[in-house]
Order: sequence, then C-alpha cells, then structure tokens
Amino acid sequence: MTRIDSTPAPSTEAVTVHAAGAAQGSWWRDAVIYQVYPRSFADSNGDGVGDLPGITAHLDHLVELGVDALWLSPFYRSPQKDAGYDVADYRDVDPLFGTLEDFDVLLEAAHARGVRVVVDLVPNHTSDQHVWFQAALAADEGSPERGRYLFREGRGAGGEEPPNNWQSIFGGPAWTRTTRADGTPGQWYLHLFDSSQPDLDWSNPEVRAEFEDVLRFWLDRGVDGFRVDVAHGMVKADGLPDWDGHVAMVDGADGDGTDAVNGSGNSGPMFDQDGVHEIYRAWRRILDEYDGDRAMVAEAWVEPLSRLARYVRPDEMHQAFNFSFLVAGWDAARLRGVVESSFRANDAVGAPTTWVLSNHDVVRHASRLGLAEPENRPNGLFATDPQPDAELGLRRARAASLLMLGLPGSSYVYQGEELGLPEHTTLEDVVRQDPAFFRTGGAEAGRDGCRIPMPWEAHSPAYGFSPDGAAWLPQPSSYAAHAADVERATVGSTFDLYRTALRLRKAEALGTGDLAWLGVFADDPHVVALRNRDVVVLANLGDAPVALPAGAEVLVASGELTDEAGAAAVPSDTTVWYRA
Ligand code: NOJ
Repeated sequence: MTRIDSTPAPSTEAVTVHAAGAAQGSWWRDAVIYQVYPRSFADSNGDGVGDLPGITAHLDHLVELGVDALWLSPFYRSPQKDAGYDVADYRDVDPLFGTLEDFDVLLEAAHARGVRVVVDLVPNHTSDQHVWFQAALAADEGSPERGRYLFREGRGAGGEEPPNNWQSIFGGPAWTRTTRADGTPGQWYLHLFDSSQPDLDWSNPEVRAEFEDVLRFWLDRGVDGFRVDVAHGMVKADGLPDWDGHVAMVDGADGDGTDAVNGSGNSGPMFDQDGVHEIYRAWRRILDEYDGDRAMVAEAWVEPLSRLARYVRPDEMHQAFNFSFLVAGWDAARLRGVVESSFRANDAVGAPTTWVLSNHDVVRHASRLGLAEPENRPNGLFATDPQPDAELGLRRARAASLLMLGLPGSSYVYQGEELGLPEHTTLEDVVRQDPAFFRTGGAEAGRDGCRIPMPWEAHSPAYGFSPDGAAWLPQPSSYAAHAADVERATVGSTFDLYRTALRLRKAEALGTGDLAWLGVFADDPHVVALRNRDVVVLANLGDAPVALPAGAEVLVASGELTDEAGAAAVPSDTTVWYRA
C-alpha cells in the first residue's frame, strides 16, 4: 500500500496552472449548466415523449440541485428523424413538445427561480421538410432556391457518382441524389448527417440573414443564450475537395490532452474552416445589442485545444464544449494534461474553460468509466458487447464529477447524471431510433442508450416519467434505485453528492477560482490533486488509499473515506474536497 502520511501544505508546494481574476464578471464564466433533453425529461400529457410543460413541472428539482442555467436540446418543429436536430421551422415549437406559449411559461418560471435558459441552434443543416428544402427540390438546377443548400452535379458520365467522397458522420455517403419531376435522376445534395438533414450553403447571404433573424426571434423572447450545433461545420472548403479522413461524433479532441497538432486544424475540408469565425463575430454583435449578458456556446469537435480557443476569442462565442476532457478517460496524467492545455488555450484568449463528462451523444460516464478501457468511446453499446462494471462505473463517475465540479470554469451536467444514471446497454434493436444505428447497417448501436426517459418516482409506472407509464424508449429496471424521489431523500446518494458539491462550489467561489497542482502529486500516475482557492480537490484513481494530511477538514467526498492507522484516507476511485 502506498501511504502518503505527510501531504505538504498546498500553498508552499503548488504549481500554478490558472490564476483567478480573468474569470470574473459574467454569469457564464462559472455557471453550472444543466442539459435538458426534452424528449426524455418529463412527459406531461402521456404520449410517452417528454414536453415543455413537463420541464416546467420539474424545475424545482433543478433549483434544489443548484444549477445556474438550463440548456434545452431542440424542441422546434421537426419530423424528429434525428430527435429534433432536424429542424423544419426554427421559430415554432413542435406539437410533440407543446406550444410557443408553453415555452414562454417555462422561460418565465425558470427566470422566476433564478435559472437561465439556453436554447439549441442548429445552423449547419435544416430538415428536408423545411420550406426552403422543399422549394429547392421543386426548383430548377442553378435556381436561387437550390442556392441555399449544397446541390452539385454527380461525377461520372451520367452523374451517377457522388460529387465527392465525403462520408456522413452517421455512416454511408454524405450525398443523396435527387429525382427530377420527370423521374430522371438529378443533382446530389450534401448532408454531413442523415439524408433528412441537408447542409445549408453559408456562403449565401440569405442563409446568414435568416439565422440572424432566428437569433433575434429567440433573444426577443428572452432566452439567455444559444448552444450552437456543429459550430465548426458551416463553412466548407472551396471546391468541396475529396478527403479520406474519418470524423466521428464528439471527435476532434487531442488524443493525449496535449496540443499535438500545432496551429492548424486537421479535421478535413468540411470542418473548422476559417470562414466560420466571421459568422460568429456577426452573431456576437447581435447578442451584444441585447441586455442581460446573453451567451453562446460552441459545439465544435476541433483539435487541438488552441485551435478550439479561436471560437471563444473576445468577439466570438463565449464558451466551447471541452470534449478533450470528456474523452480523457480515467487516467491521472491524461486528465492533468487536458486541464493544463485547456487553461493554456482559453486563458490566452480570456475565455472561461468548460468541463463536460456526458451528453446526449455519448455513452453516459457512469457506464463509460466502468468499461475495461474507459477512454474508449463506443458509439453506444449492444447487449452482446462486453458490459460495463456498473458498480465501478458509478464509483468512478461520482469521483470524476466531483473532480470536474471542483475546477474553475463552467461545467455542464447532462440530465440524469446527478442521479448516477447508467447507460441502457441492453436495448433491443427493434426499439432503437438513432439514425446512426440505421445508417451503419446496425454496426453501431448509436445514442439511444444515453437518452432513456428520466426516472422521477421509484414506484410509479415508467418511474414517474409520464402519467400513464408510456415512454418512447424502455427504461431498465436498474433505474428504480436511481429515481429522483429516492435519491433526493437519501444522504450520500449521487443527487446528494451533486447538491452538496454545487452548494460548496458556490460558497467557496470555486468556479471563479484558481488552480495549482499539489507539488507532491504533480506527476503522480494515480492521483490528480489541485488547490482551488482554499480548497484541495484530490482524486485517487489508483488502487492504494491516499492518506489526508493531519487536520484536513473534509468538505465532501464521492465515497466513504477509510481509516488508515488513525488517519483519514481516500480510497480507490474516490475524490475528496478538503480544506488543509
Ligand atoms: C450534434 C448533436 O449533438 C447531435 O445530437 C446531432 O445528431 C448532430 N449534431 C447533428 O445535428
């Protein structure tokens, strides 16, 4: 057993990584933002799909948790081919989720509770049911209607080959051929995702004007900001050149958390083109016209982190998701590497660093960290795949979350992670809905397993998700033990851990704090230990317990501490916050 009997006072042996000060002021710099996935949060009308009134009815859960803001995944009019990321009308609520009035009620109720609301904006592509795309299909080749999208002639004598070799991120070719009114094959259109999600042509001023108007529509309604989908994808390289690389969802982060590729991105001609930045500068000018400190966060799978930081320069977006942290697995050196590169890159442009462990596109971290290789990110899991160790996964997830919430910056919490929800790893293929499952011919399970409806009540049908037990995806029986009513009332539950951590984070101003590695653990292969203001955050990723220094005042721990010859010690896969 490795015993550390005399952990030195952090102030004397610290290695500073990030100084407090730059990160003061605006709410988004240190906010904890809770992602609501509307389909799966709470269903008020019994159709088995969550809706806006369901969210309003559960706002007090979020107030008790202590988050600063909500981010709502798309609730706009949509045929739901990609769960709402295929938008047919950017200015209306899909009847599945309610009405615009329901949205206004939700916004007012959240604001009345001091919770801000960020909505999703999907500018890279529309639904194929959007009036623009329907008009484009009906119009001639070369028409202004087609000019809003990326229609091209095919290659080969009869145009029977796609215009280039790009692959859809959901699998299969990124091009679909149209059929003319007379039944003959016509042009192809580009879709980086499903064929029902045609990419817009952002070199067209009409497209830019339209989205600026959409921004104003929601800003006028009172939203506090936008999460921008595929923010690195809107501008494509001139000529749409062939590219043999492969891009996967949430990819683009550095493998080892360092800036491996210096200076220029390597994401291919469809991503991270310099032209995207002018779009965000224009949007920033619009947001700045409004009062209330509105903010934008980029979903951009861009590497290295210094390249990602270009999205959060002072006149562009306010934040970008830090997927490098999400993919770092459960490895002390890698985590430290990502934390350092993140601060280096963001501090250089004066932007806050963000942290995220789960969202609606990845295997939930309570399961991911229970896999034999936690840094692997399978696109969903089948029942026939090696299954995660649920107990280990939850233990590590709690430790990872407590580490994340102890870092300066802004953190994202995906609905259900505050309950320690696992991925549904044994879904039957017949219930799967993710287009990634279908477009890969069933090779990838896809993202349904992280989108399972929330369990609110252990002893109600569908665990209280809907009034009648309906649920668009089946919930695993393991969800009963994680139901919100049980966890809210249980000391030491995962909900209790998050609630305590968020309260302390606020009280100690950790979100706007500083960060220094504890010198004694600075290169430790098993321990991540840092000081943020007066609080030490120590995560033990190794097998041996780590003793706390004498007199340490423990504030919160992700698991029970042990006693090692009279000294409190942090066991394996556990994080503790203490005051030394
Ligand atoms: C990223 C979103 O998070 C994901 O759910 C969606 O499928 C793609 N963008 C396409 O909009």
